[in-house]
Amino acid sequence: MNSEGHVLIVDDDSALCEMLEDGLSVKGFEVSTATSGQKGFEIASSSNVDVIVSDLNMEGMSGLELSEAVASVKEVPVIVLTGEASIQSAIEALRLGVYDFLLKPVKLDVLVLALRRAVEKRRLRAEVEQLRNAVAESTQFEAIVGESHPMKELVSLVARVAPADVSVLVTGESGTGKELVARALHQRSPRVEGPFIAINCAAMPASLLESELFGHVQGAFTDAKAAKDGLFVQADGGTLFLDEIGDMPMEMQAKLLRALQEQRVRPVGGSEERQFNVRVVAATNKDLDEAVEEGTFREDLFYRINVVRVPTPPLRARGRDILLLAQHFIERAATRANRNIRGISPAAAEKLVTYDWPGNVRELENCIERGVALAQGDQITIDDLPERVRAFESVAVEPDDLGGTLLTVQELERRHIIRVLEAVDGNKTRAAEVLGFDRRTLYRKLERYGIDA
Ligand SMILES: Nc1ncnc2c1ncn2[C@@H]1O[C@H](COP(=O)(O)OP(=O)(O)OP(=O)(O)O)[C@@H](O)[C@H]1O
Ligand SMILES: [Mg+2]
Repeated sequence: MNSEGHVLIVDDDSALCEMLEDGLSVKGFEVSTATSGQKGFEIASSSNVDVIVSDLNMEGMSGLELSEAVASVKEVPVIVLTGEASIQSAIEALRLGVYDFLLKPVKLDVLVLALRRAVEKRRLRAEVEQLRNAVAESTQFEAIVGESHPMKELVSLVARVAPADVSVLVTGESGTGKELVARALHQRSPRVEGPFIAINCAAMPASLLESELFGHVQGAFTDAKAAKDGLFVQADGGTLFLDEIGDMPMEMQAKLLRALQEQRVRPVGGSEERQFNVRVVAATNKDLDEAVEEGTFREDLFYRINVVRVPTPPLRARGRDILLLAQHFIERAATRANRNIRGISPAAAEKLVTYDWPGNVRELENCIERGVALAQGDQITIDDLPERVRAFESVAVEPDDLGGTLLTVQELERRHIIRVLEAVDGNKTRAAEVLGFDRRTLYRKLERYGIDA
């Protein structure tokens, strides 16, 4: 039914209720009626009402009380009808959040106009709310794309670790999605309503890093014109993401450890400590175990941040995910650039799958953005890929040559000679021809490698 909206009429005068019900039904509204505030409240809270028209003075619950009660459970505009023409009561009603105020006897047309306005406003508000939620969702819960085995493992590990309030160390090559994982951990944690704050520990010298993390008091150093909270305090109740922690200077590592142990920081130049409640997620593309052995990363700090380790797999180990991600980035880039690019040509797809992606997902993302900008038809073709991707040839290594370990040239030669001999049924003259040796050389090699032909 294409109704103008659902109106609830609340008035202790049942004759008036009936009259308004008839009039408004004719105008296309769906109408419910109630002859007391309490009854009206029950209907409003249990059914989908767009707008309420209520008498002001009623036995029991008055129109204003009804308006207040409804406002506490849902957002429905209330139009108050009253026979009392006092400006005072009108002001009071509007102050209490009543949507509109009309005098009895009300003309049907006037009421219809007021109702239409209220219904329209409510629909708009619902629409805006919906849009806002959709945008918030798409920016907050940025999808972790991937269906390969290593990615399924990653996603399940994230889901298990996120709710636990433990420190997490995210490791992996550059561009594998470590920050994305850190955000996912925050979003799936009980701290989701709190802040997520990220800082790159490699990007600044120790002194600046200290004042960023711990804050500083006014005048602590030349540029400290005003006091500033550090990121630990700013992230209170939320998650602090320490990116590139492997590059944190040694002197800062000691201070960080102390802060984490005591859950307190002393701002630079200050004497009073500040408390914080923060979950730390750190990330690194360095081998921290090795850094600990080499003495460039504190072992005690390592144990503190490495309670659970979440490794992000390199893109080249994710198989068909490369194409899934490519499609994901194509759709995003095409929408942004307002271009009608739908996909990728089969030949270009093959190149993407073959390439080894040293820059991982970030490199793929850049490659696709460039491709979307260059593509002339509705597909990304080989010509739209960067030279290094187009020119890449995979080094085919036969599995039995590798056998899981790296071989010496001699060992490779030995195996190759055996294989050739087998292929020519032990005919040494044929074998020497195939191998490009003279017979004498072949005999020498058979002897040296102990091959019994
Ligand atoms: N599985 C994924 N699904 C969708 N997008 C991804 C995925 N992994 C990474 N990305 C995107 O790739 C880009 C690089 O990811 P991110 O910044 O998280 O990598 P990183 O590991 O922190 O890299 P670096 O070590 O260089 O800082 C980001 O734009 C991120 O949104
Ligand atoms: Mg990063």
